[in-house]
Amino acid sequence: MPDFEPMSETESLPSQDAKPKLLRVLDHKVVNPPPIWLMRQAGRHLPEYRALRAKTSNFLEFCYSPELAIEASLQPVRRYGLDAAIMFSDILVVPDALGRQVGFMAGEGPKLDPLRPGDALPVFDEEAFHAHLTPVYSTVMGLRAALPQDVALIGFAGAPWTVATYMVEGGGSRDFQKIRRWAYTDLGGFQRLMDLLVDATASYLIRQIEAGVQTVQLFDTWAGVLPPDQFRRWVIEPTAEIVRRVRKAYPKTPIIGFPRGAGQNYIAYAFETEVNGLSLDATISPSWAVRAIPERCAIQGNLDNLALMAGGAALERSARDILQQFGKRPFIFNLGHGILPDTAPEHVEQLLSIVRENR
Ligand code: CP3
Repeated sequence: MPDFEPMSETESLPSQDAKPKLLRVLDHKVVNPPPIWLMRQAGRHLPEYRALRAKTSNFLEFCYSPELAIEASLQPVRRYGLDAAIMFSDILVVPDALGRQVGFMAGEGPKLDPLRPGDALPVFDEEAFHAHLTPVYSTVMGLRAALPQDVALIGFAGAPWTVATYMVEGGGSRDFQKIRRWAYTDLGGFQRLMDLLVDATASYLIRQIEAGVQTVQLFDTWAGVLPPDQFRRWVIEPTAEIVRRVRKAYPKTPIIGFPRGAGQNYIAYAFETEVNGLSLDATISPSWAVRAIPERCAIQGNLDNLALMAGGAALERSARDILQQFGKRPFIFNLGHGILPDTAPEHVEQLLSIVRENR
């Protein structure tokens, strides 16, 4: 279980520096060296995670065990001294809490019973939904109690489009034919599914904030497969609505958006969703992003996860380029997508020393 040094008196006094660096960046401050965390930092690249995970065969059960989930979130923070912890869970707890069948097969990824056009849609019963997700809120409360004050706690959800891809395709997909066809041929039915996911996701994020997360990230992993008009309708519009609802309830809690693979659509996403932070994938050129992305939007990203896996000179070159390009803006160092299971922890340490010694 968590084993942090008790906080010293000076650290526990309210001071400018007690506010986590990550939150200062999301409040438009330039912080140097920048705060750093890594998507999927809690997970299989860590031997201590694999040992913890071996205690439960069922992955969702692991996610719904606060003691295990708290420990999984703390592991990378303890090992590396990162600037943020992300609550340990998965984006697919939302369809699970909506009563769909969700399973994770070892080595195969998630499997769901596919939802088809014309099927009865799940019903968003708010009370039953949050009752199902109570263990996630317990994880958040436990993490807030265990983390030092200067480490930010991040909550998250999948964005409606990405969660819908898993619900409709029945798991991962190569070409997203089923969902893309549904969106064209039964617009009304598909819109109702997306509206349901907007309701569930906004309500879920609000509860996470009430339990103690200090910022939330919306993962739209499959945003990049849509042409511009479909991107606006199924990525920007649902995200903008979630931002409005969360902001209405908690105006001060910053929201980070991650429309992975969006390319030039990142610009419209930044302007129209009004997220506070934008997470860039590794295909985005930093010199393009500093010109194209509005100043009020903090940038997060965007190291290639393969450069991290490679380590050495390739990692050094890529990381320094990103630091140089984004150094004058409110910026959070991160990967362009999740850390891969075969990544050596020593390479994460190398990255941290590059980022923290860079001035
Ligand atoms: O540090 C963290 O970020 C941990 C929390 C976290 C997990 N999944 C744990 C997890 C987060 C933020 C996610 C998000 C997630 N889950 C996304 C969006 C981000 C992305 O990577 O694109 C998506 C698309 C999923 C759905 C999902 N969950 C898939 C496709 C898989 C199987 C493939 C894989 O990477 O294993 C999962 C399983 C999963 N989620 C694992 C972890 C640590 C591995 C399962 C295990 O430990 O056995």
